[in-house]
Amino acid sequence: MERIPIIIDCDPGVDDALAIILALHHPKVQLRALCSVTGNGNLENTTRNAKDILALCQRRDIPVYQGCGVALDGVQPETVESSFGDDGLGGYAASIASDNEVRQEHAVDFLLREISEHPGEITLFAIGPCTNIAHAIRRDATFAGKVKRLIVMGGAKGTGNMSPVAEYNFWADPLAAKEVFEAGFPKVDMIGLDVTNKIALGADVREMMRIFDTPISRFIYHATQKGVDDNWDFARRPVAPMHDVLTVGYLIDESILEMQDAFIEIETDGLSKGQSLVDIGGYWHNGQCNARYAASVDSRKFYQLFLTTVFHEKVNEINEFMKKEWR
Ligand code: BDR
Ligand code: CA
Repeated sequence: MERIPIIIDCDPGVDDALAIILALHHPKVQLRALCSVTGNGNLENTTRNAKDILALCQRRDIPVYQGCGVALDGVQPETVESSFGDDGLGGYAASIASDNEVRQEHAVDFLLREISEHPGEITLFAIGPCTNIAHAIRRDATFAGKVKRLIVMGGAKGTGNMSPVAEYNFWADPLAAKEVFEAGFPKVDMIGLDVTNKIALGADVREMMRIFDTPISRFIYHATQKGVDDNWDFARRPVAPMHDVLTVGYLIDESILEMQDAFIEIETDGLSKGQSLVDIGGYWHNGQCNARYAASVDSRKFYQLFLTTVFHEKVNEINEFMKKEWR
């Protein structure tokens, strides 16, 4: 099987970790590197967590490049301890012994070098604030055109998680998100809260993780506890965030999401800071589109893919569960 080369720019984050885990386990995907950015935690934590996840999956061979510790405006965005704990991994970081080194090269330098050495070949994932990618665009006007495809977790059409209208990754560095959507990437998919909220991890699959009792299932079980508690306090929904992992699921099986052509713009100031304006009706720009927007998700199909890929030795048990129990 020909493998799809990808780079994940991320701010791990429990849901970033799940995206990395899925990418590492699927034969169709070739993960070439992780780039870290400040977001869910400060840069030191997100970089350490990127290394930890690779160590957890016995893939210390994959390089980690540290990126930007402040947003484009020079300010460190607010981190997200409420969902993922002080360490960004729901308190689990200390349980993973990682001795892999971070590369010396800055993530932005790495992105510029790697993409220009492989023009038109690499799919780039943006699952944290878009800061590193915006810096790469600012430094090289040809950068965006050389990326095969950009898959972004961010934004929403009708909701928010930092304000009524803004999702965290775009809210944390709205200027970077704006510049990314204006940069002219050949293909951009925006996978936002409208769909990622629908795949939140419920008690049934979390229990399955406890029962499987493997290093990865234990990680998922424990690292998601904080998110469940937070969602209970905030919304009386005992589920954990899974946002970022849907991007990798979609790369592997596009039929998981229904996409619509759209023109997407990002607000940078005021009450609507970080809002993604998603025009699927052709109101602006003479109906031209700059991206595709994820409108709906088949959550059953996503979980079938995620679970059978990461826990392939349990495929029969998972299939029986999915047939009987799936909500
Ligand atoms: C996004 O923000 C982060 O907290 C998550 O990792 C995800 O990338 C969801 O709004
Ligand atoms: Ca993230």
